[in-house]
Amino acid sequence: MNNHEFKKQDFRGYKQTITPKIDEIIARTDANTPCGEYLRRYWHPVALTSEVSSTPKEIKILGEDLVIFKTKKGEIGLVHKACPHRRASLVYGKIENEGIRCCYHGWLFSTNGEILETPGEEADSKQATKLREKFKLGAYPVIEFNGLVFSYLGPMEKIPEFPRYDAFEIEGNTSSPYRIDYNCNWIQVLDAIMDPVHTSFLHGQSSGVQFSKGFAEVGEIDFYERGVQYLGCNTRRINDNVWVRVNELILPNFTQAGAAFAADGTKSKYFGRSSFTRWVIPVDDNHCVALAWANFGERGDPIEFNNQEGYERIEAGEISNRSFEEKQKSPGDAEAVEGMGSISRHKGEHLMPTDKGIMTYRRRIRKLIKSLEEGKDPPQPQKIKGQIIRTNGQDTVLRAPKRNKNDRKFVKQICSSVMKMQFELEDMPLKERDANIISNLNKMEERGSFD
Ligand code: FES
Ligand SMILES: [Fe+2]
Repeated sequence: MNNHEFKKQDFRGYKQTITPKIDEIIARTDANTPCGEYLRRYWHPVALTSEVSSTPKEIKILGEDLVIFKTKKGEIGLVHKACPHRRASLVYGKIENEGIRCCYHGWLFSTNGEILETPGEEADSKQATKLREKFKLGAYPVIEFNGLVFSYLGPMEKIPEFPRYDAFEIEGNTSSPYRIDYNCNWIQVLDAIMDPVHTSFLHGQSSGVQFSKGFAEVGEIDFYERGVQYLGCNTRRINDNVWVRVNELILPNFTQAGAAFAADGTKSKYFGRSSFTRWVIPVDDNHCVALAWANFGERGDPIEFNNQEGYERIEAGEISNRSFEEKQKSPGDAEAVEGMGSISRHKGEHLMPTDKGIMTYRRRIRKLIKSLEEGKDPPQPQKIKGQIIRTNGQDTVLRAPKRNKNDRKFVKQICSSVMKMQFELEDMPLKERDANIISNLNKMEERGSFD
């Protein structure tokens, strides 16, 4: 090869050596950052119940160092790590009936941060009395629910109601809490849910079959934006069936999809529900955690996956603890998203039409952050107060034999009819909604028409 030949091929390494920029607005989530403030307006899971005990545990959420513990009375406390006396870590604190006692000089704090005792000071110390009246240790409210501990880390005058999703009440469902830690920014992990195409490649081809064979099919991609709910559909033709798989994001960080192992497109399925109900929470700018329930049962995944390995495979396609060689041979979601670096440099991306979901939801988050800065509170997931939030993450497989002409259009039409029908029934009472959706899907299939 001579120089002329090299030049003709236009190698561009040198031209493109500049490191692209980070999308600072959505990547930075510490206290007092715009995105951090936005995220602090919502309830998030912060730990598994099983991690909380009378041994204090250090956790970091949204860049903040915290300690979580359970008092002898069984109350959960989530407080700032640094003792307000002389900043000893409360992870060395001793748990009592009423709260946590700092190891250094014995100050005792209740779960809401009240300073109950300052035993080294004189009982009649004016200074200590005044401090106890006026000052508290930083603490956050918590709700323990079904194996996950949720907290609200925002201003108390803005505390929203605790969101209840329809996924909490699926009959016959067994939900098991799990956590998966990621060594990268939260947006990288969140993006995957609005990227239905990656399931065909990462989970169906690059690493062999991680879930089921049908995943390898590249389907028709559609996106829906409905308030703060974003849906990414990948509708695949599997022989004489059409498989509508819907990934779901409810802002800022609630995610669901279809089943990981229970759906492959070969058998009819009517409104199967998500294998996980999951939140992606920033630990700091370079780490995040997925806290979730894995869902098993007739409308979820097979119960045989109800174990740690099963949760890891549902979450990322592969188990977490593997050698580099294994990871290289069969990358899962963790490898795909952590490989981008601890904070992906979004300005170096080249987003395509199949990335529409990602573009749309990131743009919306940026907008909501800006509105919050201008004083407008971000929308909560409930349409009306007290409402159980309706979700749409699912698998539906219908028999719909291939058409000789325009089959791709036909496949797309099925997705849009299924979704439209579901949206129309959305406000029905939950059980009725599910029963109606399932019966309508049956009817559509029987009729063989999907208009
Ligand atoms: S540093 Fe905690 S009581 Fe002194
Ligand atoms: Fe994935």
